[in-house]
Amino acid sequence: MIDGRRVRSNVVASQADLHEPFGGVVPEIAARHHLGTVNGVVDRALADAGVSLADVRAVAVTQRPGLIGALLVGVATAKAIAYGAGLPLVMVDHLHGHICAVWLEPVAMDPPFVSLIASGGHTRLDLVRDLATPQLLGQTIDDAAGEAIDKGARMLGLGYPGGPALERAAHGGDRTAFEFPIALGGPSTRDFSFAGVKTSLLYTVRDLGPDGMERARADLAASYQEAIVRPLADRLVHAAREHEVPAVAIGGGVAANGRLRELIREAGDSAGLAVAMPSMDLCTDNAAMIGAAAQFTEPVAWPDYLALDAIPSAPPGGIAA
Ligand SMILES: Nc1ncnc2c1ncn2[C@@H]1O[C@H](COP(=O)(O)OP(=O)(O)OP(=O)(O)O)[C@@H](O)[C@H]1O
Ligand SMILES: [Mg+2]
Repeated sequence: MIDGRRVRSNVVASQADLHEPFGGVVPEIAARHHLGTVNGVVDRALADAGVSLADVRAVAVTQRPGLIGALLVGVATAKAIAYGAGLPLVMVDHLHGHICAVWLEPVAMDPPFVSLIASGGHTRLDLVRDLATPQLLGQTIDDAAGEAIDKGARMLGLGYPGGPALERAAHGGDRTAFEFPIALGGPSTRDFSFAGVKTSLLYTVRDLGPDGMERARADLAASYQEAIVRPLADRLVHAAREHEVPAVAIGGGVAANGRLRELIREAGDSAGLAVAMPSMDLCTDNAAMIGAAAQFTEPVAWPDYLALDAIPSAPPGGIAA
């Protein structure tokens, strides 16, 4: 529940434990868990904010992109609440939500800025001159950064989810010990590619053998992490300078990474840029960011929203704002 830029409540029903035995998200389990928890989450969001539905002005929901089962549960629930309470419905693009998270307090950043979203499913740079219409500058041409991190962590025998495990394993490791390829050239490139670095880790681990890998694990983790987060930081800061905007912002689960934050802080400081890094609860998937994006998306009135559906894919140009 948000009130302008103020986050009054931000309830998350985590599923990490349910998927952990499978080493990744199982769509059917995700959808069924959504169904079982969604009403309780809505009730708690209202209770934590100290309001009732009568105080609410609109209902916002993620329309796309994502796992269709989970999206359908959200969209059907949101339509029912909107109908029951006589409220308009705002259909939000999930990536638009990640970008708008920095608009919320306490960061409260206004455009213009360049946004980096790096998550389990996406890695993209957007030029944000206004929050209604972010412009896609570049994105990954293969794996998302979070996906490469999770797969790399698995190759190194670390747990799931891989991000925090890889970061812990990298502590004390030498990030120059192994040279993993940074794809698509230097900082001026706008796109990303993480398939090559992942394959390179696979071959390195195979060549080292189990004992060698065990001994070199901290160095491998630190070098691999560096090969993923350095291009993210470099290209973000470079894009801000190229487009002459005074600020950069980050979001998505990978934005939790301490080394990524350190690199962006350093590069941002030396380029004289303001750097917006929301807290973790606003970086990973959350409801407040969907509410934030809803402020910059056209609401739909009854009965028109009944014709709108959940959509698993992203629109070709980037974001449906
Ligand atoms: N400390 C960390 N360092 C690096 N990566 C991290 C860290 N913490 C989490 N991650 C990564 O963030 C990703 C999850 O982020 P998020 O929840 O935003 O994405 P998602 O919901 O899987 O994907 P999307 O939002 O694109 O649909 C995972 O790949 C995870 O490994
Ligand atoms: Mg997300």
